[in-house]
Amino acid sequence: MRKISLLLLSALLLIGSTVKADEGMWIPMLLKKYNIEDMQKAGFKLTAEDIYDINQACLKDAVVGLGREGRPFRHFCTGELVSDQGLMITNHHCGYGAIQSHSTLEHDYLKDGFWAMSREEELANEGITASFLIRMADVTTKVLDGVTDDMKESDRQKLIKKHIKTIVEEAEKDTHYRASVKAYFNGNQYFMAVYEIFKDVRLVGAPPSAIGKFGGDTDNWMWPRHTGDFSMFRIYAGKDNKPASYSNDNVPLQPKQSFKISLKGVNQDDFTMVFGYPGTTTEYLTSYALKMMTEVDNPHKIKIRTKKLDLMRADMDASPMVRIQYSAKYAGVANSWKRWQGEIKGLNRLNAIEKKEALEKRFEEWANSTPELKKKYAGILAKMKTYYDQVTPLSLARDYAIEAGFRGAETVGLAGSFKTLSNLKKEDTDKVQPELDKLKKESAKFFKNFNLPTEKKLLAATLKMYSDNLSDEFLPEEIKNIKKKYKGDFEMFAEKAFAKSIFASQTKLDQFIDNYKVSQAKKLGKDPLFVLSNSISFFYGSKIAPDYNKIMDQIDKLQRTYMAGLMKMQPEKVFYPDANSTFRVHYGKVSGYKPRNAVTYAHYTTLEGIIEKDNPEIFDYDVPQKLRDLYDSKDFGDYVNAKGEMPVCFAATNHTTGGNSGSPVLNANGELIGLNFDRAWEGVMSDLMYDPEICRNVSLDIRYVLFIVDKFAGAGYLLDEMNIVK
Ligand code: ARG
Ligand code: GLU
Repeated sequence: MRKISLLLLSALLLIGSTVKADEGMWIPMLLKKYNIEDMQKAGFKLTAEDIYDINQACLKDAVVGLGREGRPFRHFCTGELVSDQGLMITNHHCGYGAIQSHSTLEHDYLKDGFWAMSREEELANEGITASFLIRMADVTTKVLDGVTDDMKESDRQKLIKKHIKTIVEEAEKDTHYRASVKAYFNGNQYFMAVYEIFKDVRLVGAPPSAIGKFGGDTDNWMWPRHTGDFSMFRIYAGKDNKPASYSNDNVPLQPKQSFKISLKGVNQDDFTMVFGYPGTTTEYLTSYALKMMTEVDNPHKIKIRTKKLDLMRADMDASPMVRIQYSAKYAGVANSWKRWQGEIKGLNRLNAIEKKEALEKRFEEWANSTPELKKKYAGILAKMKTYYDQVTPLSLARDYAIEAGFRGAETVGLAGSFKTLSNLKKEDTDKVQPELDKLKKESAKFFKNFNLPTEKKLLAATLKMYSDNLSDEFLPEEIKNIKKKYKGDFEMFAEKAFAKSIFASQTKLDQFIDNYKVSQAKKLGKDPLFVLSNSISFFYGSKIAPDYNKIMDQIDKLQRTYMAGLMKMQPEKVFYPDANSTFRVHYGKVSGYKPRNAVTYAHYTTLEGIIEKDNPEIFDYDVPQKLRDLYDSKDFGDYVNAKGEMPVCFAATNHTTGGNSGSPVLNANGELIGLNFDRAWEGVMSDLMYDPEICRNVSLDIRYVLFIVDKFAGAGYLLDEMNIVK
């Protein structure tokens, strides 16, 4: 007995004094200071400089942040270079928009896949950016220069903005680089990242959706998983190897670094690390925030989306045409909808609110322990609670405005985009035509994926939920009018509205656009969907957003102080900042897990599992014949594991989130073994609270990628430019 407790005690002490692997999204320039020893203990064979070094090529130089023109720093996914000729791999779901945009009825690349058989066949994608991190720097002192605790929040933000502008200008001066300064630890620290951003990114290849999206939304956020979620692009540069807009004269980028690809695969407990651009996490929220989210906001958002998904699904099941039109929309709505549900379960299972409350109690005691601390930290949690009580009804009204209002039925959003036009006056004549051209393009795009009966049902159902779930003081005027006029029969309203509205079909809308004169702005003002859309945005903009934002600013300020206090209270603990779309390093180990009583999941899946799921009757599980044939002939090439199986996916403990999609997963030698693309259902609360027992990132095994490219697609020539180590 005694021995055991002593052992336990020393184990606990050990844990307390070092950083634990698994949890955390670490800053590359600080690895040397905080993580490298721990990483090496966990099996990593290289040095901190091998990952991040501003003086010579290193692994970070092979990692790509994928963004969009206009907002290149909001990385939506991650990619990695796998050749010295700019060849990049990312997820299929990250390339989805690009693949779809090149698809037509004759060439349905989503359905059939696409492989450029030469450089000339690679397809340009307007608006996608690929950034490489050149260097980063802690700029906290400069950003917070002159900032004091008692200054007004708005003055503080103004001063910070001014400093950031100067810092960015200085960093970009005389270079072709772009710099971005972001807040870390809720605004207690600031780091600058300097990027080289390429603008010519071409599609090279994608498997058919039956591989790249195998399992679809049924398997999304789930383990065991069998999705071949990858696509390939090539980054092009000007002749000087510097960023250039798309041009025929551009040449494949010659990168500083690209990843070696390992065929060695993974075993349980192997060290793994992920590099990438995680988007947003909120690990340091208070119990009050968690309560609002899990007890109010998310249950309502889930309820609204369940309704939308049910309606879409019914129509998709009844018509293949509607299925094509709505599958991307369905996936978009379903993704967060499913994650929110897992999150609530996961947080409950961890007793997250109780844990937060215990920490808050400790914080209060600490905050009251000296007069000095008291001045700064005492009472902030009580204030926080008051603000959350105040903001909760506003937050719910905001949820409905967004989920059931602007995004309830898509025509409401479409109608909203005519607002600018309706505001143009006679003296703006020169602006009218460009605006009409823009709207006409939008209209064509919109109605390509539109089914009026589905849309009517969505409008009626979401308006009804809006009006049923909020008291009158939180309802836009027009919704109250409709409720009264139609005696709560929103279906009747939808019927009448679409009979009259110009937003009911492309023909009607184009006719309106083609014949538009400024003097007809009034006509818009009589359109029932335009009126509805306007009413929702007016109400939201004047009655909800101002108060909501004011309170949230106060909460942000308190959260910043709370964060600073938490760090001060636990000086021995190494904190990692919440994700903010900047480059991070995640490390952990390959591992299965126990999802529930008596069930154990293995750490990897194989082609066998795809064949097990095969069912031509079910869209998500309809395996391509060629893949069945390859399975039957066991034609797996060099890509098998030691048991002769064809590996597909693996699970590990890396603490990742949205934005990490496509991230390189590396072994102890820094070689590419997979692509991150998801997390497992039982652990999706890791955005708010991580649990090493059950939180798993899901990766595609690189050997399955090579197998598909080589054996399935017959595009093995692409492998020639890769550096594959056996
Ligand atoms: N859950 C993954 C991630 O958040 C994949 C989403 C795309 N796939 C899908 N079936 N909806 O983004
Ligand atoms: N699929 C997610 C993405 O698009 C990654 C999964 C996650 O949230 O961890 O980034």
